[in-house]
Amino acid sequence: MSDSWVNSAERAGSDLHLDLSGPGSRRSVLMGALRDAIRSGRLAPGTRLPPYRSLAADLGLARNTVAAAYAELIAEGWLTARQGSGTRVAQRAEPRKPTRAPKEARSVPAPVHNLRQGQPDAASFPRTAWLAAARRAINAAPNEAFGPGDPQGRPELRRALADYLSRVRGVRARPDQIVICSGFAHALRLLFPGVLRGPLAVESYGLAFHRELLHQASIRTVPLELDEHGPRVDELPSRKGVRAVLLTPAHQFPTGGPLHPARRAAVVDWARARDGLVLEDDYDGEFRYDREPVGAVQGLDPDRVLYIGSVSKSLSPAVRLGWMVLPEHLVDDVLAVKGEREAWASVLDQLTLADFVDSGHYDRHVRRMRQRYRRRRDQLVARLLERAPQVTATGVAAGLHAVLRLPPGSERSAVAAAARRGLALDGLAGFRHPDATMPAMDGLVVGYATPPEHAYASALDVLVDALAELTGLR
Ligand SMILES: Cc1ncc(COP(=O)(O)O)c(C=O)c1O
Repeated sequence: MSDSWVNSAERAGSDLHLDLSGPGSRRSVLMGALRDAIRSGRLAPGTRLPPYRSLAADLGLARNTVAAAYAELIAEGWLTARQGSGTRVAQRAEPRKPTRAPKEARSVPAPVHNLRQGQPDAASFPRTAWLAAARRAINAAPNEAFGPGDPQGRPELRRALADYLSRVRGVRARPDQIVICSGFAHALRLLFPGVLRGPLAVESYGLAFHRELLHQASIRTVPLELDEHGPRVDELPSRKGVRAVLLTPAHQFPTGGPLHPARRAAVVDWARARDGLVLEDDYDGEFRYDREPVGAVQGLDPDRVLYIGSVSKSLSPAVRLGWMVLPEHLVDDVLAVKGEREAWASVLDQLTLADFVDSGHYDRHVRRMRQRYRRRRDQLVARLLERAPQVTATGVAAGLHAVLRLPPGSERSAVAAAARRGLALDGLAGFRHPDATMPAMDGLVVGYATPPEHAYASALDVLVDALAELTGLR
């Protein structure tokens, strides 16, 4: 492995964290960023750099730009290139010795590897196809599209989504039941407390940010236990005053399993009997690796299930577009909260996404990313088997993250061992509902989609090193 550029020196293969925001040509900005990384010691002498093609892809630059930057830095003496051994940081380019160690460097280093869950591989955003879709969509848009936006969302996008969601996720939707928003968090803000009031049943493990949003809207959340079949929806009838439940049925967030088929039916029956509502958070439903995706629960009863999706996992959280497929009787209430004009979701981005979906680029991108994430998932499982066989990865059949279950009491030391090696990742504790009564689970949530391609293998190396250090696992 010492030949591999991702493994040759202490920091090699880490996400290079190059700041390319400065003024000037892309080439000179990249050269400046590489010089800074070498001067500061982040790129140590001897470190092998990624092949210019990979770095170009990860940074979204033209290959020529990166090749030219490498060539100039070689000419300046910062880098060396030898046939068969790639491009490396020159031995004589000594890092400047800091006169005084920065505060945090003395205790825990700033993370250089990132396996935190929550985002797709940002380097894979389909820039060219997105730009082409934007160009086509803006050229074809009628003049009225450039006036104030309809708060329900562009009809082009609602039509495209109705078709896509029914084809891919088994959602039963007509365009007039869809309301566009800027993502799942925005959907929660629109629904609570303007349309729905608490208390709301939720899963015992979930995203703290969403719990906080609900708390700010004065909504009391009531946790349901989780077991190997997902949330215990059989607890719903005994939860006083609860008429709505928020679930992640395709892939429980963050623990990972799908909701058992019997429970899918049971929760819909409960909603019918209680005149209640199921809120379905389908945040990564398209990413399923070992069999066909599990369809949305919404397909079982569109009058009782409110379906919410966004492009944050499939495309990018930077796009800020999402959608609600509403039971008919709630459409007007949601529109009343949204107001007279679209104030959140850019109409131009909506038109672009509509074209992106209709032209097949969305399906193609999801397919490509599914292959990439499956490969990364397989690499994670293989590395664990090889270096930390005591640790099992769970929730790996789908999604962009896995949970590594750990013996009770060992989670904090595992997170700390990773942090000491410059690896950022989360433990399960941060996802636990403060009122949960089920036994606590120890585990690491590994976002295997997060790093760019060039940084993934070394992030895994650091992860298994950190796990190997835990005595309880031997
Ligand atoms: C559980 C869960 N739901 C929904 C989302 C999507 O959130 P948003 O659309 O607000 O970016 C995420 C994050 O991407 C998530 O982790």
